[in-house]
Amino acid sequence: MLIHLLRPDMSDILTERSGNILSIQLNRPAKKNAMTLSMYITMAELLNGAAKDDQIRVVLWHAAGNSFSAGNDIEDFMKNPPPPGESPQAQLIHALINLDKPLVAAVQGAAIGGGTTMLAHCDFVYAGESAKFQLPFVNLALVPEFGSSYLLPLRFGYTRAAELILLGGPFGASRAAELGLVTQVVPDQSVLAAATETAQTLAKKPAAALQASKRLMKAALREQLELAVKLENEVFAERVRSDEAKQAFTAFFGRRQPA
Ligand code: COA
Repeated sequence: MLIHLLRPDMSDILTERSGNILSIQLNRPAKKNAMTLSMYITMAELLNGAAKDDQIRVVLWHAAGNSFSAGNDIEDFMKNPPPPGESPQAQLIHALINLDKPLVAAVQGAAIGGGTTMLAHCDFVYAGESAKFQLPFVNLALVPEFGSSYLLPLRFGYTRAAELILLGGPFGASRAAELGLVTQVVPDQSVLAAATETAQTLAKKPAAALQASKRLMKAALREQLELAVKLENEVFAERVRSDEAKQAFTAFFGRRQPA
């Protein structure tokens, strides 16, 4: 039976416990699940909590509405740009890097910016046929974040990462699968069911061996990732405060191309 653990102060993120699975749902569909500061903090707390809770073996991550996530809330970038050091974004990055339990994502619709880069930290990503990914950082006068400047060239190969990061164009689910960002493309209506099935299979595995295996696979990456994140956060903090970024954010809300 599903136990609903919704807390009134975190309605942009809902959680459910089903057996040994913690299910986290981004729940800001009117804003395409764009991530606010409080959503980053809540997500980080949930992942850190899941890491310590012996009853949780797998985390399932999905989203309400017709999009997975439109990335960082652009209004927040204007009002509360992340500093180079500690920030809600940094809290979530560290929680993702340090999570030893499997993280399974179900992606429908748009997964843009952080909506794409956060997926690079998941162990399984199921995407609907019409899912759309994009790394529009340079278009917004920003730089890649969430360790993606390191992880994506490693995973995609430099040439493909350069195309997607420097040109910043959209790409579909089958390309994302070819690139190794997506585990499997499934019919749109089956995304959550496919992710849930994998989460259930994982939840039945010997828990300590499962976590130790993920830890071993990630061991060599973690140090490099932390270094990349530190560098990214420094450069990002400068870029997000630049005039060209401010113009790009204003253009997004004004629905026009920046000059
Ligand atoms: N930050 C803040 N608000 C956002 C947002 C974001 N990242 N993405 C979408 N929204 C808001 C829109 O401003 C709009 O708000 P409104 O209804 O109050 O006007 C609402 O969400 C719906 O978005 P809209 O653009 O009308 O929907 P769409 O279906 O035409 O397009 C997207 C959906 C996700 C493709 C498009 O919104 C988009 O490209 N978003 C920006 C994503 C981005 O660049 N993120 C990178 C941040 S690093």
